[in-house]
Amino acid sequence: MKLRPTLISCAVAMRLYSFTYAVNAVFIWVAITVRLTMTRLMSAMNKLKLLDLFCGAGGASMGYSMAGFDVTGIDVKHGKRYPFTYIRGDVRDYLNTDYLSQFDVIHASPPCQTHSITKHLRNAQGKSTSKIDMIPEVREALIASGKPYIIENVPQSPLINPIQLCGSSFGLKVRRHRLFESNMSLVGSTCNHTTRPVGVYGSLNDEIPRGGKTAETIDQACEAMGIDWAIWTELVEAIPPAYTHYLGEQIAACLNA
Ligand SMILES: C[S@@+](CC[C@H](N)C(=O)[O-])C[C@H]1O[C@@H](n2cnc3c(N)ncnc32)[C@H](O)[C@@H]1O
Repeated sequence: MKLRPTLISCAVAMRLYSFTYAVNAVFIWVAITVRLTMTRLMSAMNKLKLLDLFCGAGGASMGYSMAGFDVTGIDVKHGKRYPFTYIRGDVRDYLNTDYLSQFDVIHASPPCQTHSITKHLRNAQGKSTSKIDMIPEVREALIASGKPYIIENVPQSPLINPIQLCGSSFGLKVRRHRLFESNMSLVGSTCNHTTRPVGVYGSLNDEIPRGGKTAETIDQACEAMGIDWAIWTELVEAIPPAYTHYLGEQIAACLNA
């Protein structure tokens, strides 16, 4: 009866085979994981670093990230919904060249209440703000840092040689004209006001002076802005990511040239 030793040898061979197979599988899995981690690390290390001052919920930050930047934001608010590296603090504590020089590009969206057209409405409603204009202080620090910079604000603001962007030129349902001052040469966009815009300001589903209403639902407002993670009060203050995606690609081309 030689059958029994043969069966035993077969069983041993199969065990050895499965063991070798398992070891190989683990080895391949470890190699793939290490490779992916290295690739991610290398790509993070190769990304240009952008600092977003007054980042809010991250409308501007999102566009820069889409353009390939590694983004860090600073704001006084809690930043619960901010999608990138977040520092909660007063921007004025970070306006020094030592800190700013860690970044390749700096974007700033100082509060616009002092220049916005809704200022008169707020005054009439007894909701006037005592906000100070931070643009001069921010500009001075950014120039002193020697870094490429962008300052964003509303159309009535005192920006120097700004370009203007409009949501309609990106196929968005908001117009939200915004100015961008920079020490780089940037190209603005041309308005394409063909359809009635969706208002993302004031209150949801509210009458607007020249007829019509603001966005009826938060979903409609999110769609109009191209933002799907923010609440109403954040959407009202945000820049559509399409704007900074567009600018970010111009800036990256400038810096990589
Ligand atoms: C116009 S919003 C920025 C919106 C943002 N760019 C976006 O696209 O979502 C201005 C922001 O400045 C912040 N802010 C005002 N004063 C500040 C200060 N001294 N330090 C830090 N953040 C401040 C406000 O909390 C607000 O989120």
